[in-house]
Amino acid sequence: MENATVAWQMAFYSLPFRKDDRILTAEAEYAANYVAFLQVAKRTGAVIDVVPSDASGELDIEALERMIDARVKLIAITWVPTNGGLVNPAAAIGRIARAHGIPYLLDACQAVGQMAVDVEAIGCDMLSATGRKFLRGPRGTGFLYVRRNMLQQLEPPMIDHFAAPWVSRDSYQLRDDARRFETWENNYAARLGLGAAIDYALEIGIAPIEQRCRMLAGRLRDGLAALPGITICDLGRAPGAIVSFTMKGHEADAIVASAAAAGITIGASDPSSTRIDAERRALPHVVRASPHYYNTEAEIDRLIVHLEGLPSR
Ligand SMILES: Cc1ncc(COP(=O)(O)O)c(C=O)c1O
Repeated sequence: MENATVAWQMAFYSLPFRKDDRILTAEAEYAANYVAFLQVAKRTGAVIDVVPSDASGELDIEALERMIDARVKLIAITWVPTNGGLVNPAAAIGRIARAHGIPYLLDACQAVGQMAVDVEAIGCDMLSATGRKFLRGPRGTGFLYVRRNMLQQLEPPMIDHFAAPWVSRDSYQLRDDARRFETWENNYAARLGLGAAIDYALEIGIAPIEQRCRMLAGRLRDGLAALPGITICDLGRAPGAIVSFTMKGHEADAIVASAAAAGITIGASDPSSTRIDAERRALPHVVRASPHYYNTEAEIDRLIVHLEGLPSR
């Protein structure tokens, strides 16, 4: 697909919803997904129910179990949200989805390339991801996984004659593989780049990638924790390699700009990209630093020294 968003949309908009059907999602759900829930709710009368988080900030598995009833038609959650290091318990959610026969759509955009992804162990029916983040692929690439027994139930919301050949004047026939979500024309150069990025990641190995990403993120968190005025915002029992923080007296965008001027690339996350979580925690814009395996310990330390050198306010 051309990005993770389209991959996710193809899965989500293929599902039929009716009035009073329930969609269960998590507090840290990504804005693109949530506005699609809102649109479908508006069109169909389906309702969105947000599963609360536990004390650690992860989706509360017991609360999810209690919320299940016959009206739940989809569990759709983000594994690793856009605004911090939280890693939601994707496999525990999958066990509940499977036990109750509820379709499970996992946004794995920020997990793929960062940590091991095993759709059997997770138990998801649909999984979307991007090429441009931890996979280090080209922008404008993504992919969708759909479990085979789920595939036959999903009619894509839009089709062309590649997805569904025009077999007689009045009929088309959907392809019986996952390419029913694709179109005739594609950005082949970007796809080749995505393939190369995946080969590259597999050659290095996902386990060593995960280990090094976590080590560097841990080093960054330890350094930040020792600085006055810094608040680390990452949730969960074992946060991954996205480190989010605020600094007293400094706007996130100003920190990003000052780091860029010093040759350090970090980003910021806006409350509206994860509105429910941001409102619950009264988060402002947060700084987001995402070390990858190619970063050195010295580079992590440079960021810490840079922040230490900003005027205290
Ligand atoms: C959790 C999550 N899902 C989906 C996306 C969308 O990915 P893409 O830009 O490839 O559409 C993002 C991008 O920030 C994201 O953080």
